[in-house]
Amino acid sequence: MRVKIRRFAETSEYFISVTERRATILDVLEAIKNNLDITLSYRAQCRAAICGTCGVKVNGKMVLACKTKVLEVERDEGILIEPLDNMEVIKDLVVDHGDFISKLRDAKSWYIEKEQPEKVYPEDLANYERETDCILCGICYSVCPAFQNDKEFGGPINFVKMFRFWKDKNDALGDVRVEIANKNNITSCVHCRYCTLSCPKQIPVEEDILQIEFYGKQKGIIQKKENFPDFFSFGF
Ligand code: SF4
Ligand code: SF4
Ligand code: FES
Repeated sequence: MRVKIRRFAETSEYFISVTERRATILDVLEAIKNNLDITLSYRAQCRAAICGTCGVKVNGKMVLACKTKVLEVERDEGILIEPLDNMEVIKDLVVDHGDFISKLRDAKSWYIEKEQPEKVYPEDLANYERETDCILCGICYSVCPAFQNDKEFGGPINFVKMFRFWKDKNDALGDVRVEIANKNNITSCVHCRYCTLSCPKQIPVEEDILQIEFYGKQKGIIQKKENFPDFFSFGF
């Protein structure tokens, strides 16, 4: 199989034999590094879709290398592996997660317990259980077109975290999370749903954004920013 890998401005080409039907993109990268080219750099740790470090673009699709089988993405001409979009490349397939990590930090994306927490029942957990599966892989961030018009946009990963804590009845911030969403320009989302469709954990990212945005506008917490079209004004 022909494997092309984009490495900064250049593309390296390798030929490897893939006989195992379960072989993943990560297996391919490891085979190349171990047998053909020790200089190749990529990032991976858990091999089990848990650590969120192995995101890459394969034949134009953003995926986790350890979760994606070669069979799912292979074409007649082979596969092209590239670094994720919307992030600076450090080397070869290794990208800098710093941008979205600092946005998460600025948005207080952690649990802040209220003074007298209440018991949590399964029906409470159901409100945000899917969002707790987020592995911070940044794939939603890499597919998002909203950054083209607004570099200050918080990004889908950020709004998933806001949603998770906003829906938790024991979180002390409550609607302050919605104010933070407003400061992170949530109205710059164009609701393309690429984030939802690409998330390896099947988190309904765009639907969460829609809920925060709708609630925030009803309460007067979220206002559309000047010079940005209002999604709701198009009558979607
Ligand atoms: S929401 Fe999904 S795609 Fe985005 S960082 Fe979390 S797990 Fe990855
Ligand atoms: S739905 Fe919004 S947040 Fe998700 S990829 Fe599209 S513009 Fe980005
Ligand atoms: S190696 Fe951890 S998610 Fe792929």
